Amino acid sequence: MAHIQLKNISKTFGNHTALTGLDLDIADGEFFVLLGETGAGKTTTLRMIAGLEKPTEGQVFIDGVDVANWGAAERDVALVLQQYSLYPRYTVRENLEFPLKPKIRRLPDAEIKDRVDRAARTLRIEHLLDRKTDRLSGGEMQRVSIGRAIVRKPRVFLMDEPLSALDAKLREALRTELKNLQMQLGATFLFVTHDQIEAMSMGDKVGVLNHGRIVQTGTPHEIYNNPRDTYVASFVGSPPMNLIDGKLVDGRAVMAPLNFELPFAGGAKTGAAADGRPLVFGIRPEDVYLETGAPVEARIHDVENHGVEKILTLRVGDAMLRATVPARTDVEIEQAVRFAWNPDKVVLFDKGSGINLRHAS
Ligand SMILES: Nc1ncnc2c1ncn2[C@@H]1O[C@H](COP(=O)(O)OP(=O)(O)OP(=O)(O)O)[C@@H](O)[C@H]1O
Ligand SMILES: [Mg+2]
Repeated sequence: MAHIQLKNISKTFGNHTALTGLDLDIADGEFFVLLGETGAGKTTTLRMIAGLEKPTEGQVFIDGVDVANWGAAERDVALVLQQYSLYPRYTVRENLEFPLKPKIRRLPDAEIKDRVDRAARTLRIEHLLDRKTDRLSGGEMQRVSIGRAIVRKPRVFLMDEPLSALDAKLREALRTELKNLQMQLGATFLFVTHDQIEAMSMGDKVGVLNHGRIVQTGTPHEIYNNPRDTYVASFVGSPPMNLIDGKLVDGRAVMAPLNFELPFAGGAKTGAAADGRPLVFGIRPEDVYLETGAPVEARIHDVENHGVEKILTLRVGDAMLRATVPARTDVEIEQAVRFAWNPDKVVLFDKGSGINLRHAS
């Protein structure tokens, strides 16, 4: 088990900067998810913790010790990758034993057997132990790769998009299993993904990485409800948060180019939002609702049926707005409807910087 800290890490490859001033603090036993788009620097971050890459600047601490001069083996971390690298001509049991066989470890045979059996039981692959790995399904292979990490009993598990090659159903099942596994082992997990649903459903904490910088770190709840800026607001959530340009006029929210108005629950949140300052209003689709007599008229531009709910695209002038409504809502394309929003759920962002006013003050 271990506590991991990254302090002011920067990494450049030639003249390309992959990471800038990165600070991370992952508590012992935490399931931490690093979320970012492709090229954000996620793999680079993992490789630096694993000791496969050196930071250009900054320090990596494991349990308070600066590990700059420690090789990958000494760091005692296990890296699980998207592309599982199993030995195809060997059985599952042999694949699981392999990380325990090097001479330096010198584990007694009984101990090796015990660890392999235990990992197989945990991952529910006992019935596969004598099978060759090239006869396994994708999900089974990924379980075996995770098993290869577990048997080592590492201090830290580093997982680089381990579920992204699997189909949707399997991905969902393994998400739950991995989360359970982490709680059972009480181990520190750093899990990397570009999938915001994975991040929100698995993480105790989520760090959002954008172009090599951490934009926000927090619980999934904090990140979802109080995104630090418009980047996080539009990256997390599906469909994403609606972002509409506007300003406050006498305590009312006025959408600038479109000139429609919605009620706004003022109070503490408006502190920095002086009248007329250019703002972006953020509202989640589930906080927009249709109601006869509501303040603004829109046309139904599109309807997506998702089973329990529908996602409507509303058109006001030439602006689009998403609303998540119950599936029983009966609407047709081009129908005129009236909508409002939950004024308590509106998030204000500064138009120039994109920063959430609650974070700026
Ligand atoms: N060895 C390298 N040499 C040069 N550039 C590199 C090297 N490794 C990574 N990069 C660059 O650093 C940036 C971050 O790469 P990284 O692999 O960490 O991204 P990522 O977030 O893991 O992306 P993905 O989701 O596609 O895996 C990218 O622009 C990448 O091209
Ligand atoms: Mg990567």
